[in-house]
Amino acid sequence: MTNFVYVRGLAAAVLMVASLAACSSSDDSSSNPSGSTSSGLSASFTKTCASCHGAEGRGSGIYPSLPSGLSEADFISTVRNGKGTGMAKYDASVISDADLKSDYAWLSARK
Ligand code: HEC
Repeated sequence: MTNFVYVRGLAAAVLMVASLAACSSSDDSSSNPSGSTSSGLSASFTKTCASCHGAEGRGSGIYPSLPSGLSEADFISTVRNGKGTGMAKYDASVISDADLKSDYAWLSARK
């Protein structure tokens, strides 16, 4: 009997987690085939860029949502050269070209 109650509780918990996950995912999951719960952005982005641009690069306030309509080349050159007073420049030791390219692709696909 107690065993039965436990199994029902477990099933309910699993269902709850599944529906929560479905609700909270605002982006098209097909753009994130790795299916990770955190974003598909690079570890470098998460470490260096997310503090201003957000965990999914959506930006807020003075921080633009990325990729902000830029081409991949302009996106990368902005990161390498900085912009205005708020955006520092970051070299490849901070975030590699490969990471920037995959992040650009992810950000472009993000809804
Ligand atoms: C300290 C906060 C901060 C961090 C950290 C930061 N940015 Fe920015 N970023 C800004 C601000 C502010 C702007 C707007 C600058 C402007 O338009 O004058 C900006 C602009 C940009 C732009 C240009 C957008 C446009 O419309 O031209 C890109 C691309 C960008 N950031 C990418 C990144 C990436 C990639 C990283 C991580 C390597 C990063 N940023 C880290 C604050 C930040």
